[in-house]
Amino acid sequence: MKLTLLCLMLILLGACKSRPEPTPEYSKSQKRNMEIRIDEIMERMDWPEFALVKMSQNKMYDHPDFKKYTDELIKQNDRLVKIEHWEKSFNRLSKRMASDLDELKAAVESKDQLLINQKWKQAKVTCKKCHDIFE
Ligand code: HEC
Repeated sequence: MKLTLLCLMLILLGACKSRPEPTPEYSKSQKRNMEIRIDEIMERMDWPEFALVKMSQNKMYDHPDFKKYTDELIKQNDRLVKIEHWEKSFNRLSKRMASDLDELKAAVESKDQLLINQKWKQAKVTCKKCHDIFE
């Protein structure tokens, strides 16, 4: 009797330990809607990114549009952060993107060209990291 109880406890303990971290459960259609939302956000990041690439190639860091397009990327990424993706790494990357873009914005405000260039490159690495996994 005692042995059975002990075995039962051990099994229960094992089951508790091996249980994976809870992740949000989504239906197929919820996932599909999320993908559509992500795609729509990304399409809105396309033009600002293109403009920032062109402006940084021409060292136009102090052009008012540099700040404008940085703000636009922040606005779109804020929407991305709100998505509770079923993959934790996606949520980590969108948060990382938010802090990269905040640092870029601070650099733009400081008008330090070297710093702006460095932060813009850093932000693009994070765009690419997420695309390498999820695009
Ligand atoms: C947390 C993940 C994530 C981050 C960060 C991210 N993206 Fe994306 N991006 C995606 C996914 C997923 C797709 C594929 C969307 C699709 O086509 O369904 C994508 C696609 C795109 C596309 C193609 C859109 C199209 O369908 O035409 C562009 C442009 C784009 N991203 C720009 C950016 C830029 C610029 C950044 C950085 C400022 C960025 N993304 C950061 C996840 C991310």
